[in-house]
Amino acid sequence: MASADQLIGALEGLDANSFVSEAERVRAMDALTLALSKVHKPWDIVWQHCWVNPATNACVKTLIDAGVFSKWIKTGGGEKTCAELAELTGIDVTYPFCLTLEEHSDGDAGRMIRQISGQNLVIETAEDTYKPTPWVHALAEDQALANVYGEFYGFVNSPMFRTLPAYLKKTGYKVPTNPNDCNWQFMRGSDENLFQSLGANPAAAREFNDAMESHSKHNLTPWVDVYPTETLVKESKPDRPLVVDVGGSKGHDLTKFHLRHPNIPEGSLVLQDLPDILKELTIDDTISIHPHDFFKPQPVKGARAYFMHNVLHDWEDTKAKQILSHLAEAMEPGYSKLLIHESLVSSVKPLARVTTSDITMMACLGAKERTEAEWRALVESSGLKVLKIWRPRHSVESVIEAERVL
Ligand SMILES: C[S@@+](CC[C@H](N)C(=O)[O-])C[C@H]1O[C@@H](n2cnc3c(N)ncnc32)[C@H](O)[C@@H]1O
Repeated sequence: MASADQLIGALEGLDANSFVSEAERVRAMDALTLALSKVHKPWDIVWQHCWVNPATNACVKTLIDAGVFSKWIKTGGGEKTCAELAELTGIDVTYPFCLTLEEHSDGDAGRMIRQISGQNLVIETAEDTYKPTPWVHALAEDQALANVYGEFYGFVNSPMFRTLPAYLKKTGYKVPTNPNDCNWQFMRGSDENLFQSLGANPAAAREFNDAMESHSKHNLTPWVDVYPTETLVKESKPDRPLVVDVGGSKGHDLTKFHLRHPNIPEGSLVLQDLPDILKELTIDDTISIHPHDFFKPQPVKGARAYFMHNVLHDWEDTKAKQILSHLAEAMEPGYSKLLIHESLVSSVKPLARVTTSDITMMACLGAKERTEAEWRALVESSGLKVLKIWRPRHSVESVIEAERVL
């Protein structure tokens, strides 16, 4: 049996750069999470869920809004006292994150910084002195990432998970399947579905898009590393669009494609989404912006590829089939590909990230993540056939490659 000192010694110095590959890092993270869950006693878990997580998120959002992280990094990062952080932000030191004045030195000092330090989100190097972690740098340097703590968490995730148990109790624990009559409407007290609520709230729509961009940037193996995109370019017809990203949000997946294939012609990538989502967007010239509702016939015909990332998991089968059927009608048999970039729920030990996404879909749209068999059944009921499922071991998500049935 290892002593606590031996264990702590073995873990010291470990960080995200300690591994030979991302796959190894994720394996180690899973093992550490498992070990931690075994070391926890029940009360530790309750405490973490019901006190630590909400208190920490409240502090993080406050510190982001006060400009603490961005100004800290802009002025070189490094070690700072709470008083120095207060000075940077111009916020009165009596503000709750940094009560450091002599006359307040009654144990109240740096309350919010202390809370996030307790979560190892900043590192205490001496009394009332902290240095930023890579997480602080990331929030300071990437506004979209910081915005995930804003309206995505505050307008979408937090309230919908708060009401989900009561909604399910009220409906007799029936599996919700209607995006227009699910927990979202119960939570909001209105008839709007998630996307209509976002359309009516520009700040929430903007930060929802930021969350999608961040999810795509940080959580996933890029689709161009899952699917051999060079085959799309090699066999493409010059007068046709190369890739249409359907429900593509800010165009981050098309940008990844463009970076991989920099010499493709201007306008050969097409970004489609709802008009409210696209209206404030600025994007490079290779990508042309087409507002389009995917429940209507697809106006771009015969493209080399129609790509969808995390779109179909938003919709239960009847609606998903409508989206797919419109795409099938626009595809040229034998030339056009449909590429569905989504998670597959494994029947044994599904990934925690996938099960979290599944419950998220249930809470906001009465939708779900699907197993391989469910994906095949859905695709093949829509005038399409599955050619291959690209499912590398290291990737959370797969690419389902399909073509139109003749
Ligand atoms: C979960 S997000 C995924 C966005 C993006 N593909 C990504 O992976 O980051 C779903 C996207 O579908 C879009 N959407 C929802 N309803 C739509 C509709 N009827 N027509 C077109 N796009 C729609 C949303 O605006 C949103 O950008």
